[in-house]
Amino acid sequence: MTTALSVRNATKIFGAQVALNDVSIDVEPGEVRALVGQNGCGKSTLIKILAGFHAPEPGTEVTVGGEPLPFEDPVSSEAIGLRFVHQDLGLVGNLDAVDNMAMGQGYITNGVKTIRWRKERKHAREALANLGYDINVRIPVAGLQMSERTAVAIARAMSDRGSEVKMLILDEPTANLPNAEAQRLYKLVRRVADSGVAVLFVSHHFDEVFEMADSVTVLRDGKHIVTRPVEGLTEEELIELVVGRKLQEHNKDAADAREHGPEILKITDVAGGSVAKLDLEVHRGEVVGVAGITGSGREAVAGLVFGGMERGGEVTVDGKVLPQNRPDISIERGVALVPAERHANASLIDQTLRENITLVDPGRHMTMGILRRRPERADVRIWLDKLTVKPAGQTEYTMAQLSGGNQQKVILARWLRQQPEVLIMDEPTQGVDVGAKADIHKLVDEAAAMGTAVLVCSTDHEELVRVCDRVVIMRRGRVAEILRGNEITADNITAATIGRDANEPTEPAA
Ligand SMILES: Nc1ncnc2c1ncn2[C@@H]1O[C@H](COP(=O)(O)OP(=O)(O)OP(=O)(O)O)[C@@H](O)[C@H]1O
Ligand SMILES: [Mg+2]
Repeated sequence: MTTALSVRNATKIFGAQVALNDVSIDVEPGEVRALVGQNGCGKSTLIKILAGFHAPEPGTEVTVGGEPLPFEDPVSSEAIGLRFVHQDLGLVGNLDAVDNMAMGQGYITNGVKTIRWRKERKHAREALANLGYDINVRIPVAGLQMSERTAVAIARAMSDRGSEVKMLILDEPTANLPNAEAQRLYKLVRRVADSGVAVLFVSHHFDEVFEMADSVTVLRDGKHIVTRPVEGLTEEELIELVVGRKLQEHNKDAADAREHGPEILKITDVAGGSVAKLDLEVHRGEVVGVAGITGSGREAVAGLVFGGMERGGEVTVDGKVLPQNRPDISIERGVALVPAERHANASLIDQTLRENITLVDPGRHMTMGILRRRPERADVRIWLDKLTVKPAGQTEYTMAQLSGGNQQKVILARWLRQQPEVLIMDEPTQGVDVGAKADIHKLVDEAAAMGTAVLVCSTDHEELVRVCDRVVIMRRGRVAEILRGNEITADNITAATIGRDANEPTEPAA
C-alpha cells in the first residue's frame, strides 16, 4: 500500500516568522487524521502548501501516492489527487447543488456544448447519495442545512475530475455546525475514508477529533510535537499536548454567583430573517445564551438585535429605541456586536491590527486634532496581550499576516475595549484554540462583572455552559425553551435544540 501523503521536513518562513519548522507526517489510504494545535501553530500554512498556494522553503518534500508534488501549482495539487474543502465551503448560495458541483469542473455537455441537465442532476444526486445524503439538488444551496451544504462541498471535491482522489483535506469542517448536524458529517467522512481515500482535517473541536479521527497530529509553534492514534488518548492529554501545559480547571461558580443589575436590553416582538418572534430581556451583568440549529432563528438573532438588518418589533437599550438598519446609532448607545464570519463582516484584512482595533473610536488618542501614536500603540498592545494575539505585540502587522483564530481575537479586542453596555456576540470563539478560548471566556466574565449585559449566540454548547446564566433555545424562529442554573448542560442544550417536535429527520431517508 503506497502512503497517501508523505510530508518531509516541511518548513515555511514569513519574514521573521517561522510558521512551519521541519514538519514530517505520513497519512495512509483510508486513514482519518486530525491536525490540531493553537492558533498560529502552522496548520493552515501546511494545508496551503499542499494546495499549491504557498511555496515552502527548499528542503521540503511532499509525495502523494508516491508521486512528488510540485509546489505553488494548484492545478498539479488537484491532478495528483488532493482535494480541498475550505472553511467557507466556497459555495454560491443562490445556485443549486447541480450548479455548485459543476462549478470549477465544467458541466457535462454533448458534442455541441449544450448542457445535459438531466445527466447533471442525476450525477449530483448520485454523488450525494454515495455520501449518504438525499437532498433536493434543485433548490438554492442557501436553503439547505449547514451539514447538507458541507455535503455538497465534499461531493464536489470528491467528484471525478479525470484523476483519482487520494486525499480529502478539510479546514475546520464543523466550525459552524450544531451538534446534531455534526453527527451527520462524522458519518460522511467515515464513508469517504472507507472508500480508501485518506482524510486530513483541521479542528479546534476535540469531540470531533475523538469521533472522527483514527489518529491525530499536534503542532506547536510550527513544530511537530506528536502523531498518535486517537485510541487510548484522553481529552485532557490532548489539551495538554496542544497547549503545552495543563489547562486551569474552570469553575462554573463565577456565573452562578453573579449578581444581576437592572434590565437594560429589551427585545419585544422582534421578527426578521429566520426569526418569527423574539421577546427577551437581559440585565446588566447577565450573560444570556442563544442556542438552536441552523434555520431555528439562532443565526439571525445577533444581527436583528444590533440593528444591522431589517426587522419588525422593538429593541431598546436603557429605554432608548435602537432603530433598525442603524448600526451607527446602536454603537452610539453602547451596543457592540462581534459578528460571525469575521472575514465577510468585520475585519479590514489589509489594515493594521491597530487600525482594526481603534476603528470604532479613532479619536480616543487625539489631542487638539493630532493623533498620539505612542499611547495609541500602548493601548492597543494591552488588548493584544489580554487576548494573547500571536505574534505578540505586533500592533503594525496587517490582519492578513495573522492566522484565522488570531484575527478573531483582534475583532474581540476591538469590542471588549469599548466596555460596552450591551455586548452581542455571534460565535465568538469560532476557530479559536482551547487556550485562547478559556481566556476569552474569562474576559466575558470580566465584562459581566463590570455590568455589561451579554448576549452570546453560539453553536458551541460547551461554551454556553461555561459562560451563561440563562440559555434561550430557539426552534422554528421562536423561543422554545429557557434553561437556567444547573439545567444548563451541553446534553440538555443539544436535546432542546433538536426539540421534541422536530420532524426533520437527522438521518437521510434512503
Ligand atoms: N501571509 C502571511 N504573512 C505573514 N505571516 C503569516 C502569513 N500567513 C500566516 N502567517 C503566520 O504564520 C503562522 C502560522 O499561521 P497559520 O495560519 O498556519 O496558523 P493556524 O495553525 O492555521 O492557526 P488558526 O488556528 O488560528 O487558524 C502565524 O504566526 C501567522 O501569523
Ligand atoms: Mg488556520
